[in-house]
Amino acid sequence: MPKDEAVEDGARPVGISLDVRLALEEAIGYGGISSFEFAGGREPVRKAQQAIEVRRAEGALPWMDLPRLDPSPYLEFASQWRGQLDNLLVLGIGGSALGTSALGTALLHPYYNALPASAREGRPRLFVLDNVDPDQTSALFGMLNWERTMVNVVSKSGSTAETAAAYLMARGVLQEKLGLQRSGGDVLHRHLIFTTDPETGVLREIGRDEDITMFDVPPGVGGRFSVLCAVGLLPAALCGMDISSLLSGAQAMDERIRNEAGADNPAGAYALIQFLEYMNHGRHISVMMPYSARLRDLSDWYRQLWAESLGKAVDRSGRQLHIGPTPIKALGATDQHSQIQLYAEGPDDKIVCFLRVGCFDREAEIPRLHAEKDSLAYLGGADLGSLLNAEQKATAWALARRGRPSVRIDVPRVDAYHVGELIFMLEYATALAGELFNIDAFNQPGVELGKKATYALMGRRGYEDLAREIEG
Ligand code: PA5
Repeated sequence: MPKDEAVEDGARPVGISLDVRLALEEAIGYGGISSFEFAGGREPVRKAQQAIEVRRAEGALPWMDLPRLDPSPYLEFASQWRGQLDNLLVLGIGGSALGTSALGTALLHPYYNALPASAREGRPRLFVLDNVDPDQTSALFGMLNWERTMVNVVSKSGSTAETAAAYLMARGVLQEKLGLQRSGGDVLHRHLIFTTDPETGVLREIGRDEDITMFDVPPGVGGRFSVLCAVGLLPAALCGMDISSLLSGAQAMDERIRNEAGADNPAGAYALIQFLEYMNHGRHISVMMPYSARLRDLSDWYRQLWAESLGKAVDRSGRQLHIGPTPIKALGATDQHSQIQLYAEGPDDKIVCFLRVGCFDREAEIPRLHAEKDSLAYLGGADLGSLLNAEQKATAWALARRGRPSVRIDVPRVDAYHVGELIFMLEYATALAGELFNIDAFNQPGVELGKKATYALMGRRGYEDLAREIEG
């Protein structure tokens, strides 16, 4: 396909960019964000960024340091295991799984697990199990060659019921099939690794007792902000993703955000648009719609980041407000034939964010066939990438014609560097949005309550009173 966007600019790749024009009144008419409104938001965003940077300087936001993490322990571990594994089975849920899936889908071959071992160049297939569905779990466990499978149990707390159940099941299979016993030495080391809190939790305890290889989730880094630490980096390195570039991209975005303060940087402008849509325009639904199958799971990761961070009952002074935009994921062009009718003509309660790729990795030219049939001939000679991007442009335009706002993030290429940029931009935007909404973006009391209720219903010791309360 024609290289329609430069991807190199001297030493550093051209970065991702945000285009907000189709959210503005001058482009979509009444109902769009006015220039007066946007200008009025600049100062609050600048202050929000200042507040975040103060907290970073105090050491209260350690996820912001992750782009500067040294990747070498993960790279060394991966090179040590290269050629010895067929499968990497990641057991985790929520923030302990979604980032890894997003990285795998974006950065590995689109059908990576179906590639022959030689094409994977000695790296394992990647399976991320983030549910306790019996059909899915049994089917997956039944098809793995456990002799050549490594299980990475990822849980910051160590005690999340779904991950704990999956760990017990995987360990049961390992013990049964391979005779893995407590302090099984080499056998244990070949098949189990833990990624967990450096001090606390049951996984840390077992890991210490049994000398299992462990990697840390740095203290103070919450699950949904943890993809750029061992949680995402370790599986990514084992499967051959370029984690150094991933971190470089995140670091470049961090520098850019700090150099172009407030609404002048993409994180600030993104947070401001989302905030104004919610507060002033009643658009409480925020759609993330990549026009790239490889970015599909990144919008899944983002959905959790945005929902768990911003959906809160109280503001920072404890006042009840029950606030938070509802994130929705959609995929272009597929969901044009499923969701766009609703976005265009249903309630005007959505802001759509398109992700558009400048240059796809693969060319896919449509053959010039049926020259005599007008309804097919126009496609001949075009590349699928230009068709996909034309569909994105057409959809944004059609929405704008109906006064429906959208923004667009341009991703020059789907590679580790730009995915790193995108991840950090969206994390920073989430933190800024938290400041603008005046809520704590880093807690999740609603999730914790459900976790405790599950413990109670499943008979965990210490939760008897809660069990009685639930059962009435
Ligand atoms: O973002 C979060 O904090 C949550 O989604 C957690 O990641 C999720 O609940 C899993 O928690 P843990 O890693 O403790 O098992």
